[in-house]
Amino acid sequence: HVGCGRVAARYLEIFTRGEISGARLGHVCDIERSRADEFSRKSNARAWTDLETMLREAKDIDCVTFGTPSGSHFENARAALVAGKHVIVEKPITMRPEQAEELGKLARDKGLMFGVVKQNRYNPAMRALKAMMDRGRFGKLVLGTVRVRWARDMNYYSSDAWRGKFLSDGGVITNQAIHHIDALQWVMGPVKAVCAHGTARINDIEVDDTTVAILRFANGASGVIEATTAARPDDIEASLSVLGEGGSVVVGGWALNEILFWKFTVPEAADETAQLDHSQVIPTSYGLGHAPLLQDVVDALKRGEIEPPVNATEGTKSLSIIHALYRSMEDNGWVTVGTSSKRLGIGG
Ligand SMILES: NC(=O)c1ccc[n+]([C@@H]2O[C@H](COP(=O)([O-])OP(=O)(O)OC[C@H]3O[C@@H](n4cnc5c(N)ncnc54)[C@H](O)[C@@H]3O)[C@@H](O)[C@H]2O)c1
Repeated sequence: HVGCGRVAARYLEIFTRGEISGARLGHVCDIERSRADEFSRKSNARAWTDLETMLREAKDIDCVTFGTPSGSHFENARAALVAGKHVIVEKPITMRPEQAEELGKLARDKGLMFGVVKQNRYNPAMRALKAMMDRGRFGKLVLGTVRVRWARDMNYYSSDAWRGKFLSDGGVITNQAIHHIDALQWVMGPVKAVCAHGTARINDIEVDDTTVAILRFANGASGVIEATTAARPDDIEASLSVLGEGGSVVVGGWALNEILFWKFTVPEAADETAQLDHSQVIPTSYGLGHAPLLQDVVDALKRGEIEPPVNATEGTKSLSIIHALYRSMEDNGWVTVGTSSKRLGIGG
């Protein structure tokens, strides 16, 4: 694993507690020696401070997972793919859609896995919702709404230089709400056009801490995004509501982990216990999806397959929506998805 920061703590837990089988954390790498050493001490993995050196010298690496700053995903993942390693990268897949497409092609050409972590897709509540959508129970879709009301203050944004910048991070929609935007399009289908407004309302950052948007889906449904890191004093919720002619479901909680509403016009016996059956208590806003996602990665690789749980094409969909949202803020109006921001992932 490369990048021994906040999200990496989850990887450390997964591997040291034996939450997945068939794989071992053999090497950890961080440019900060103390972080690499701490992870090494806790996991018995070998510590490295330089990615290229690790890729060159550690011959027993099959797959590299990246929890490095978002702006470095493209270059880091490319280096690992060029070195012949399978790659799983934390979200966002890259900062710009064309970078993810390039890496997807590179991986395919080399017969390697390249995927992104979208662990909320593994939440039981999200799986249950998606299954109902795939079965057609919602009928004609009306409205999909995403709400992320979380609290991140200047201690968070100042904790590392990459945070809160267009080049290396992006704002609340790129860093936090990307999961929920991914969930929205995963369940409701492709987004055609967006109209957004974003501000840095109470955090002193160059990117948005609060963004609202309206969406038009390709299937004719409407959508709403409300995302903020300026909720105070604490995280409130992260939810997705899906309304259709055939029924409505709201998945909420801290991070899409609880069924809050579940009713269909043609009821089934299992509907009555859906709330109990598919809700989950989670220890952090990361949820519990990392372990099953990584288990699927390991199992696929063991079978000799290179298709990840969320591939480059899938991982790029939420990124493309986010780019359209920023472009809409830049141009002040409706933007077709597929149009990229002039700022996100670009320096200067
Ligand atoms: N899936 C999720 O829910 C989730 C949650 C949090 C973060 N993330 C993503 O994970 C990534 C990391 O976020 P974080 O909060 O852990 O950041 P962080 O700043 O806490 O950790 C990043 C670590 O990477 C190290 N690093 C930087 N460049 C490196 C390089 N070239 N080689 C090796 N190490 C390097 C840093 O020293 C730092 O220790 C981000 O892209 C973020 O969006 C995903």
